[in-house]
Amino acid sequence: MSEAYAKAWRDSINQPEHFWSQAAQAVDWMSPPARSFDEAEGWYPGGTLNTCHNCVDRHVAAGRGGVTALAYDSPVTGVVHRYSYAELLDEVGRVAAMLAALGVAKGDRVVLYMPMIPQTVFAMLACARLGAVHSVVFGGFAPLELAKRIDDASPTLLLTASCGIEGARTIPYKPLVDEALRLAHHQVERVVLFQRDTGPVADISSPRDLDWDTLRAATHSDPAPAPVEVASSDPLYILYTSGTTGTPKGVVRDNGGHAVALAWSMANIYDIGAGDVFWAASDVGWVVGHSYIVYAPLLVGATTVLFEGKPIGTPDPGTFWRTIDRHGVKTFFTAPTAIRAVRKEDPDATFLKEIGTGQCRTIFLAGERADPDTIGWLEDKSGLPVIDHWWQTELGWPALASCVALGDLRRKRGSAGFPVPGYEFAVVVDEGGHPVETGQSGAVVIRAPLAPGVFRTLWNNHAGYQKNFATFPGWYETGDAGFIDDEGFVHIMGRTDDIINVAGHRLSTGQMEQIVASVDGVAEGAVIGADDAIKGMIPVAFVVARAGVESEQALHDAVIKAVRSELGAVAALKTCYVVPALPKTRSGKILRNLLRKIVNGEAVAIPPTIDDPAVPDMLLARVRAHAEV
Ligand code: COA
Ligand code: AMP
Repeated sequence: MSEAYAKAWRDSINQPEHFWSQAAQAVDWMSPPARSFDEAEGWYPGGTLNTCHNCVDRHVAAGRGGVTALAYDSPVTGVVHRYSYAELLDEVGRVAAMLAALGVAKGDRVVLYMPMIPQTVFAMLACARLGAVHSVVFGGFAPLELAKRIDDASPTLLLTASCGIEGARTIPYKPLVDEALRLAHHQVERVVLFQRDTGPVADISSPRDLDWDTLRAATHSDPAPAPVEVASSDPLYILYTSGTTGTPKGVVRDNGGHAVALAWSMANIYDIGAGDVFWAASDVGWVVGHSYIVYAPLLVGATTVLFEGKPIGTPDPGTFWRTIDRHGVKTFFTAPTAIRAVRKEDPDATFLKEIGTGQCRTIFLAGERADPDTIGWLEDKSGLPVIDHWWQTELGWPALASCVALGDLRRKRGSAGFPVPGYEFAVVVDEGGHPVETGQSGAVVIRAPLAPGVFRTLWNNHAGYQKNFATFPGWYETGDAGFIDDEGFVHIMGRTDDIINVAGHRLSTGQMEQIVASVDGVAEGAVIGADDAIKGMIPVAFVVARAGVESEQALHDAVIKAVRSELGAVAALKTCYVVPALPKTRSGKILRNLLRKIVNGEAVAIPPTIDDPAVPDMLLARVRAHAEV
């Protein structure tokens, strides 16, 4: 263990006030905070700042305006464009002027439904500049999901673009936005659309719609709004994530704690400072994109890569290595699923051997459990340390990792590393919150109060936030299960609830079940997460048809279509078994774990409480027959 890591962790736990006040010096405050933490007021009470100023203006003011801030690399359009910090300031100022002209002000919400283009980053930072609260919705969600987020966030404005580009396919966004606004109860006053050079021309004939470029030209001579002073605890953004119900949870991120935590993580986990190049190959619609494509690299004056492509097919499985090499990426962050996809297409890593990994020093993986085999392949082929690390939308930044920049390179395949300074972990099984013995599995919990940057409420749902602390008083329930081994490595093994990670995308099987249950002809249904060699997990549905349903195939198709159109393509529900019965206990509880074992081909032990012991064999036969087709 590195002494620097051990000391940092001890200090963060034993003297949090001092530790986090030192860390806060990395941020440019408008008024410095009175102290680091207050239970009622949150992180950095009394402190005021502007996150956009910290990400952009101050680097220009420090004479670093010529350094590349944003490297947009889009293999799907063939465009590579670098924006210096001075150019980024100008672009953000223009978008802020556009938003201000439409009346957007401090505290207003702005929903973004946008692809991986620079305008998305400009818009997020422009909102931060005005003290407005952005809520970015991932492009893979269907209109109904967008509508739910619009209704909850009640934005004054929605920003979108003419299309997203998914590999070889173009997805027009405007029809999806129009449909979402039709479904939403909340009326958005204005929609501003960025018309891309590629793809279809969007229809903006409604009086509600405005063209981005026209608005930009009209506000061109307006002075760029100055960064608005906000309180440390004021919201920077709302990011919706899957909970255990059909209603998404609006994770609220503050300004002050977030800026401090992210800056700290760059210097101490990822080893990134001013002038270094960092690339998180994620999407701005997810927390990884918020934290590590947009805010964290810019907070520390580094260069961030905005990659509009897929790990494979855009154009080939060498695209990651080419992008790393082209931009001089020092630290690379991706999801295990992306590496599995690359490996499947290029098992011998011929592209990697030919292109190399340039100046890359470390690869970080997160988003889902990294299987030891994938880590082994990547370390072997790249010759680089591959660090699995763990966190969640709620936390906003890593809680388990090897703090590479503190000299801690310890890693064990299958483990997500050690508690990051600021986080104290335990594995518990009983409500008393008593830690289990080393090596024993249980619920993974983190001691409250949580580190800076971590959510302190859910939008419109503080009671929902408090539930996270209800089962194990004094501890935050992560929803993950795992164990801590005798060397202190924490192993995250899966969820304790109905959330699954599909290709690094967090989804709720409970939500899918609600959709499935509402399909005409379905008497009852269950959705479980099955193991998948590339995506980690994929959802699989089992449904029982209502009496009178004639075509099982038609019912199957209707279920698949319903999940895709109500939740989105990202749900990736492709398999639905129409079966005579579901396995249930005598009290009527569906045995989802048994279903999971059946589809995974694992040994099935029939529980004594089962209502009909013949059902598992029947299901097994169905699943086997399907596999043989
Ligand atoms: N907009 C619109 N549709 C989207 C989308 C977006 N932003 N993202 C995904 N989709 C669609 C896909 O096109 C696909 O549609 P299809 O069923 O019509 O083919 C569907 O949603 C499922 O997408 P996905 O699960 O991503 O599968 P894929 O086969 O397209 O790609 C991977 C597989 C592994 C290459 C890809 O999922 C990947 O790169 N994952 C990494 C994810 C990641 O970085 N997560 C962040 C955590 S760190
Ligand atoms: P999200 O909020 O989308 O970032 O998803 C968070 C969830 O993804 C966690 O609660 C875990 O279940 C899972 N997850 C993220 N990173 C890892 C990891 N390194 N190992 C295991 N599971 C992970």
